[in-house]
Amino acid sequence: MENNTVKKIGVLTSGGDSPGMNPCIRAVARTANHLGVEVIGISEGFEGLINGVMVPLSPRSVGGVLQRGGTMLQTARSDYFRTEKGQREAIRQMNENEIDGLIIIGGDGSLNGAQALAKKNIKVIGIPASIDNDIWGTSMSIGVDTALNTILLAIDNLRDTASSHNRAFLVEVMGRGCGYLATMAGIIGGAEMVLLPEVNTSVEEAASVIEAAYMRGKNHSIVVIAEGAEIGAQELKEKLDEMDVGFKTRVTILGHIQRGGRPTAFDRLLATRLGVKAVEALFEGRSGEMVGLRGSKIELVPLEKVISKNRTVNLEYYEMARMLAF
Ligand code: F6P
Repeated sequence: MENNTVKKIGVLTSGGDSPGMNPCIRAVARTANHLGVEVIGISEGFEGLINGVMVPLSPRSVGGVLQRGGTMLQTARSDYFRTEKGQREAIRQMNENEIDGLIIIGGDGSLNGAQALAKKNIKVIGIPASIDNDIWGTSMSIGVDTALNTILLAIDNLRDTASSHNRAFLVEVMGRGCGYLATMAGIIGGAEMVLLPEVNTSVEEAASVIEAAYMRGKNHSIVVIAEGAEIGAQELKEKLDEMDVGFKTRVTILGHIQRGGRPTAFDRLLATRLGVKAVEALFEGRSGEMVGLRGSKIELVPLEKVISKNRTVNLEYYEMARMLAF
């Protein structure tokens, strides 16, 4: 493989952390080392880039992180970087530190930041990492599988207590404006129904589905509610209790538990493959692109396309969840 451009690259994680970021950083550092490229770890995302908070990453310094959730580089959401001035400061720091390429690991906002730098002629490759699975151009983002497994464990536990008490549990999961986690958790966790940002569901409809399950003789009911759904879990509980749907109700908001934990085998492998490909792409002189999973392959997609599209859940899965919930 021939090096067309880069001698020293920076890597940062930005936005909400997701399990698998560490294996990704490890893959970036070790692939770069293999190719004879120096790697600088930038702390706290774009904030650290602006403030020049950086440490060299050797193959040894990324040892022992495969199994750790979170990000060893720390992360942040930077409002300053969204401004022209913030971006100017970031580029100045890159020049001072002789960084000639950047790898940005993060979600929607981070990839927007990556594209802003690419437009200013900075060599940059993005890597999709967010538990929400709302990034266009990749079928899976780093962290989604681990988050889904965490949700599944919670639902399995809740079902035990729900069936012991003849209760309906309203389980709120993360996902921002995307119903991916809720839908998939609904299918594989055996939920009665899922409430999504992508589909409007009235309280009356939710009540009749839960009541029908009660009348069919079920001894529990699980409703998975995406955090971005029109009606929240607590509000739905209050309405259902007023209406009396047979089951007594309880609310569980899973929250940030979904963002932590040991990355699953799937996430470690995905993160590693994306990290390797991102470094190779920079090495070959590519820029302004994101590495993504398409079918079974890791491919490059233009960042411009990625950030101009909104990824929502495929509603075929929503229909599947409904059909199987009988
Ligand atoms: O984007 C990841 C995510 O966990 C969303 O699911 C959630 O809406 C948001 O981040 C929470 O952000 P914060 O950690 O800033 O509360």
